[in-house]
Amino acid sequence: MIHALPKAELHLHIEGTLEPELMFELAARNNIQLPYHSVEDVRRAYEFSDLQSFLDIYYAGAGVLQTEQDFYDLTWAYLLRCQQDNVVHTEIFFDPQTHTDRGIHFETVIKGIHSALQEGEKKLGITSQIIMCFLRHLSAEAAMQTLEMSRPWHHWMIGVGLDSSEVGHPPEKFKAVFARARHYGLKAVAHAGEEGPADYIWGAIKSLGAERIDHGVRCEDDQQLVNYLVEHQVPLTVCPLSNEKLKVFSHLEDHNLKSMLNKGLLVTVNSDDPAYFGGYVNDNYRAVQSALSLTDDEICQLVKNSFNASFISTELRTGYLQQLENAFKEFQQHE
Ligand code: ADE
Ligand code: ZN
Repeated sequence: MIHALPKAELHLHIEGTLEPELMFELAARNNIQLPYHSVEDVRRAYEFSDLQSFLDIYYAGAGVLQTEQDFYDLTWAYLLRCQQDNVVHTEIFFDPQTHTDRGIHFETVIKGIHSALQEGEKKLGITSQIIMCFLRHLSAEAAMQTLEMSRPWHHWMIGVGLDSSEVGHPPEKFKAVFARARHYGLKAVAHAGEEGPADYIWGAIKSLGAERIDHGVRCEDDQQLVNYLVEHQVPLTVCPLSNEKLKVFSHLEDHNLKSMLNKGLLVTVNSDDPAYFGGYVNDNYRAVQSALSLTDDEICQLVKNSFNASFISTELRTGYLQQLENAFKEFQQHE
């Protein structure tokens, strides 16, 4: 059933879709020496104790991405996985500073990603949006410079986000940057309440004007916050396999996705950095279905939420929700 339902993905870092095989291919193409001997060697290194231990390896891996073609190939490979998983709409993050800080032009990055997404819509019928994330471990000034540098390409982006090391870098640090981005007509989302406290979720909403919270699993520590998120139907883009790999929850069976769903929170299921966390979006759905004994109706609700939480036009949303309803009915008839 999970495969049969058309779905949207809303929390996906394009740099996190870099599979070890492509990493080796790009390293060879660009004459880069990797600190690994083989693809298996890379996979063995993917044992993380927390968010930072992952980020260190993830930023190093992104070093093989050099040309527009590299970013195109990376994005195209992800779109083919979308097709396999019946993802019909995707809103992807990219981290420009990871690339500009090592001398890659902003234009190189965004053009490669954008042209693959265009091709994806034409050839695969997958609609998409781009969200530019600021790295929160870097300064607010650096984020502001990135925002200004990106202005010629704002028409290719739906919004801005905030990612990287959460604890010690509260949302308030980026208040002015997000105010400026919103002034430019961009929407705001932010990672909050992944490792950081529920207070950071409040901060993302109140200081940054975030319309959607990435992760947000720590919201249950604050009942008033849960009430607010339910009342205003603020979407939470949850990434179960990521949370398990980064030890946000020790076991998937302990994950609070089902509990949040049953409280009426607008939760969605996403893959975050699938090449690093061992699963694309359908793997995430299957894992929580099994670990949390989710019913077919709960799975369908999560998928419905993915469209309701997305930044698509009303017209597209209506069409996708209709497709979903038809697919769900068809599945139930064949049960
Ligand atoms: N960058 C890529 N994945 C991330 C995550 N899960 N949290 C924060 N920053 C990230
Ligand atoms: Zn993320």
